[in-house]
Amino acid sequence: MKAIVVRQPGGPEQVRLEEVPVLQPEAGEVLVALRAAALNRRDILMRSRPQMVDIMPFIPGSDGAGLVAAVGPGVNRVKEGDEVVICPSLRWGIFESHPGPDFEILGGPTDGTYAQFIRIPAENVFPKPPHLSFEEAAAFPLAGLTAWRALITKARLAPGERVFIPGAGSGVATFALQIAKLAGAGVYVSSHSDAKLQRALELGADGVVNYTRADWPDEIKRMSGGGFEIVIDSVGAATFHQALDLLAPGGRMVTFGTTSGSSANLEIRQFYHKQISLLGTTMGSLREFVEMLTAVNSGKIRPVIDSVFPLGEAGAAHGRLERHEQFGKIVLRIDHG
Ligand SMILES: NC(=O)c1ccc[n+]([C@@H]2O[C@H](COP(=O)([O-])OP(=O)(O)OC[C@H]3O[C@@H](n4cnc5c(N)ncnc54)[C@H](OP(=O)(O)O)[C@@H]3O)[C@@H](O)[C@H]2O)c1
Repeated sequence: MKAIVVRQPGGPEQVRLEEVPVLQPEAGEVLVALRAAALNRRDILMRSRPQMVDIMPFIPGSDGAGLVAAVGPGVNRVKEGDEVVICPSLRWGIFESHPGPDFEILGGPTDGTYAQFIRIPAENVFPKPPHLSFEEAAAFPLAGLTAWRALITKARLAPGERVFIPGAGSGVATFALQIAKLAGAGVYVSSHSDAKLQRALELGADGVVNYTRADWPDEIKRMSGGGFEIVIDSVGAATFHQALDLLAPGGRMVTFGTTSGSSANLEIRQFYHKQISLLGTTMGSLREFVEMLTAVNSGKIRPVIDSVFPLGEAGAAHGRLERHEQFGKIVLRIDHG
């Protein structure tokens, strides 16, 4: 089969199409003929970090959708020909509060979805929402699941609360915005791009601000009427302090990413005087995936596709994500001709 293989850490030029063997499913596994995969920032980290040399060569990609091509012994939840979407949380474990020691995100070290076929545990495949194309179905698993757990499980978002999401263009942010609106929240976002802010307004944002303006924190606080009950932050170092300032007393900050860096000093006094809760999260369980899939099936959350590239142009797709040009998800189309 054709697959993208990363053999050494580096830039998008390390994302190369190769011919590799198809692995047949063993007991409890299925083989999926992928029609689409989607990019996440994680793919860039796995490709570029020098320490990832230990897992190379590997096939990147956490998100995918396609058709079941074969099932291993003992599998009866799906059959050959079923249209499926993949949940990238491998071996979450028995506790909902946190993943267990064997947890892994699909797409390194375990070979991922930038390929014509993937062998995967049957418990990680779910019926594709019939109203979505393969490209749309591939676009929601990792980002949608992360946003769902952050807002619904961790923050326990309630109707009428105000949510701030920095970085509107991020794949996760486009789901967080829709999930928060679905839950009845007021949603406010920031971006470096006015065009992306316009897209966010079209998705239902109640207030937007361009973070290249020096006074953006004052502006968004004014729009919200004094602060936010919840901040959903994956930007990290660049927004951590402002996020704490922007929280209303008793507010909750949910953090799961470090796009701009992973170190920040915490003003401890401000933190406890305002009775702030800081909540860390990562991905989500299979149970949460089913909850999120139900919301997608209701038609009330729809993946936002930024662009579609053929599998062989995955390097160019990585370049677009690295330059922060996207609004929503960048998808790879996988042909079998
Ligand atoms: N822990 C987990 O399980 C998990 C799961 C998913 C994602 N993540 C993490 O969450 C982050 C987002 O992931 P993704 O795939 O959605 O990323 P992405 O699509 O690459 O989005 C990155 C976005 O961050 C925004 N940004 C960068 N610097 C900013 C700043 N100074 N202020 C405000 N926004 C800024 C930009 O938004 P604009 O272009 O709008 O300015 C940029 O487009 C990544 O760090 C990723 O690793 C973690």
